[in-house]
Amino acid sequence: MCGIVGYIGDENVTGVIIEGLKKLEYRGYDSAGIALCSEKNPLIVRKKKGRISNLEELIEEEKLFSHTGIGHTRWATHGEPSDRNAHPHTDMSGRIAVVHNGIIENYAELKEELIEKNGSVFQSDTDTEVAAHLIGSYYQGDLEDAVYRATQKMRGAYAFGVICADEPDKIVAARKDSPLIVGLGRKGNFIASDIPALLKYVRQIYLIENNELVVLKENEVKIYNADREEVHRDVFNVTWDEDAAEKEGYDHFMIKEIHEQPAGIRDTLGRRVDDQGEIILDGIELTREDLEQFNRIYIVACGTAYHAGLIGKFAIEKLAKVPVEVDVASEFRYRDPFIDNHTLFIAISQSGETLDTLGALRMAKEKGARIMSVVNVVGSSIARESDDVFYTWAGPEIAVASTKAYTTQLICMYLIALYMGRKKGVLSEKLYRLILEELTIIPDKLEALLEEQDHIKEIAEQMYQHNDAFFIGRGVDASVAFEGSLKLKEISYINSFAIAAGELKHGTIALIDKGTPVVALATQTALLEKTVSNIQEVKARGAYVFAVAQEGSKDQLKDADEVILIPQCMDEISPILSIVPLQLLAYQIAKLRGCDIDKPKNLAKSVTVE
Ligand code: AGP
Repeated sequence: MCGIVGYIGDENVTGVIIEGLKKLEYRGYDSAGIALCSEKNPLIVRKKKGRISNLEELIEEEKLFSHTGIGHTRWATHGEPSDRNAHPHTDMSGRIAVVHNGIIENYAELKEELIEKNGSVFQSDTDTEVAAHLIGSYYQGDLEDAVYRATQKMRGAYAFGVICADEPDKIVAARKDSPLIVGLGRKGNFIASDIPALLKYVRQIYLIENNELVVLKENEVKIYNADREEVHRDVFNVTWDEDAAEKEGYDHFMIKEIHEQPAGIRDTLGRRVDDQGEIILDGIELTREDLEQFNRIYIVACGTAYHAGLIGKFAIEKLAKVPVEVDVASEFRYRDPFIDNHTLFIAISQSGETLDTLGALRMAKEKGARIMSVVNVVGSSIARESDDVFYTWAGPEIAVASTKAYTTQLICMYLIALYMGRKKGVLSEKLYRLILEELTIIPDKLEALLEEQDHIKEIAEQMYQHNDAFFIGRGVDASVAFEGSLKLKEISYINSFAIAAGELKHGTIALIDKGTPVVALATQTALLEKTVSNIQEVKARGAYVFAVAQEGSKDQLKDADEVILIPQCMDEISPILSIVPLQLLAYQIAKLRGCDIDKPKNLAKSVTVE
């Protein structure tokens, strides 16, 4: 986790770094810090617990000035959030400063060695301070060499930005398993954890690869590989609009992103279905022979992306007739799944940097699987390490709670399932055309559904004071229930629990009392009667029931206290619509509870630690 940024150039770095950090705050925000150096000044380090605004307040009066600096926004891994544990950290001499995203796994061992050999004294509980001391212990007037030698001793993941008071004309950066980019500006050069941090200043980017080291000067950037040979890197031109990363008048990024779903879906679909209704999987070559030789598919992801995988399994099994197993990445990578060269591994990830998903991908790759990924962030690690990438074109997602990435992931999963089924010849032309047609009109239906906001706000008013909530559903509705429940708990801190509706009576129903909110998904025509029985069971125990169903089923749902009807659609694709009222419900409840919606406590947007 954590975000790093650095700048060397003509402008005063303080403003540039604070701006960059604000764009990276989604990666962690329990403390922030900055280090500057220049020919006239020794190293200046300022850091503060809490949000970046606290750091801004701290340095406001000082009018710090420099042309070389690094900054950090933290999501604690080693040591509590505090001023002391905030980055940057310095070496023993106080002349080298380091910002770091990742985890140094052998830091305890290294720390002991440093104490023994150099008498190092540490000020913090962090692994990063150990890295700073290690770099310092190798420093003999050449920062690049010291960083290189230190990284050779480290195990784990890192993206480092390092400056030294004795060499104020350079920033040295290094990467292993944590994201790092270089921005090429007209008045200087930048490093950052990701592209949005630099959009205000640059459009030309170098994507730094694993085990590479970068030396930045005001007018020069050099990249070296693990053997310290200089490497050439093509410039990646960013086409995103900076406005796309701003709130555009909405109160929060989350609500803006909920409203961006029709456009995101149109973009994701538009580039993949040609005039003849044929699906184009970008450059992905999946022949009939390829598909016939896959005897199993694993879909592996975390959190919301995992929930998209659950729907993906349903779609692929139904439309392409291949057995699919879905797993959370943190479990998958430490069990012994059966993988060989007849396995197709599909990773789903918004950020493309989730370390658990990346770890699972690498394991599957090593064992011979073909790797496909469904990713939102272009050029991210998961995208780069996959054999085939299928991008969701949701645009930058800033709110920690994922919304538009999820619905575009669903679109991708349906497209993959339709493509596979058709290529294999196991899907009828009629069903293929019907689903594709339905998908193309989904954005309009979604727009209509977004009009229901006021009604959902009324429902939120009934629910927001409760400390527990339950989500139930059958078939694909159960998967949507999991996602709706996650949305609610992560931004409103309500203890929310999702369960397959039929499982309620096997234990969980014991928790239903008078007034307990139950959100019931009832969009599946064939399962409607069964779900209605489950609604009656909780109603009989006094629950307050909010049901989401398809137009035309209101009569069957008269026991529910509130009903939101989604526009009629094929049962198979209802999840793209039925999740929207749940996203809005979570948003409205969190707002009523006064929560920090875009940056919920304890969470970060991009989870680059295990
Ligand atoms: C979504 O609302 C969550 N904050 C989280 O579960 C997220 O989906 C998960 O961490 C996976 O992230 P990724 O899609 O970037 O891999």
